Amino acid sequence: MNKAIQVVNLLKKFEEFVALDSINFDVEYGEIFGYLGPNGAGKTTTIRILTAISRPTSGTVLIAGHNIEKKEYQAKKKLSHVPENPIVYPELSGWDNLIFTAGLYRISRKERTHSAERLLKDFNLFDRRHQQAVYYSKGMKKKLSLAMGLISNPEILFLDEPTSGLDVESQRLIREKINDFREKGNTVFLTTHNLSEAAHLCNRVAILDKGKILTIDSPNHLQEAMVEVRSFEFELKSSHSPEVVLKTYFQETNDERDFIFLNKQKVRVYTPNPTSWGQEFLDWTRVNKIPFGAFGTAEANLEDVFVSLTGKGKLGHPQKDIKRGKSQRG
Ligand SMILES: Nc1ncnc2c1ncn2[C@@H]1O[C@H](COP(=O)(O)OP(=O)(O)O)[C@@H](O)[C@H]1O
Ligand SMILES: [Mg+2]
Repeated sequence: MNKAIQVVNLLKKFEEFVALDSINFDVEYGEIFGYLGPNGAGKTTTIRILTAISRPTSGTVLIAGHNIEKKEYQAKKKLSHVPENPIVYPELSGWDNLIFTAGLYRISRKERTHSAERLLKDFNLFDRRHQQAVYYSKGMKKKLSLAMGLISNPEILFLDEPTSGLDVESQRLIREKINDFREKGNTVFLTTHNLSEAAHLCNRVAILDKGKILTIDSPNHLQEAMVEVRSFEFELKSSHSPEVVLKTYFQETNDERDFIFLNKQKVRVYTPNPTSWGQEFLDWTRVNKIPFGAFGTAEANLEDVFVSLTGKGKLGHPQKDIKRGKSQRG
């Protein structure tokens, strides 16, 4: 049985620079596969090769069993690619963008009209369908571009940062439509640098850094890792050293935690319950008359999750700023 996507020993060089280094993975039919990584990791480079926009330096890519270089036409018939920056024809209306795109794929006149109407309604663009796309907001362009990707009835959808830079409502709608597409038995490959998006939407998630896949894991592990690296951040006035204050607090409470310096006066303390931990710590500093700058709970970030998932160092960054306590982590 074929896989939707098979990538074997993919290498991509830009002159001497190695952008992708021995990438290997498979994506099953009916799966949403998340490709997660910081800026510059190689996500877009991968997507461009998998959709035949760019050629690999070496390695093999099969799309629905078709070699993307040797059987480009057969492979491309199965897929749609929605780039990060929406490509819409600005002088055409939303409606005409969809009809024109459907025409490129030789979809019958009757089906074109029917699909355009359905997609415009799905993406809340129907009321504005006769307006030129140049007047659409960024979110509307992004939704139109996704609708244009869907109108050719692809089996495999490649989405580059489908929700980046959008308001919460548009993000929710787009995630819902991605999920609907998968539920019809189709396959999605999406890139993101948003952890919770990857954890909530995807069946499996690959983490990429500097052109290498570091792990391929289930979103459950990602979720657990995200809980493990919840944290409380605070800043002290320069009269007090955060390190001395924390060490004293750990000693008094007999509860040592990992922490890192964000700058000289600003610290992140790892705790699975940042709100209650922070409250108790704040109460203690009040009693001890220690003056605060700012404080708050922090979302898990990609670097921390990666450390937690693999037990390896941070994503290509030196570890010198990490102070390890005696707690269970790492
Ligand atoms: N056409 C190109 N020529 C030279 N370097 C490139 C080219 N395209 C991408 N790169 C480099 O490859 C690396 C990965 O880029 P990209 O795939 O766009 O990362 P991501 O999408 O994960 O943010 C970056 O260092 C980028 O500068
Ligand atoms: Mg990119």
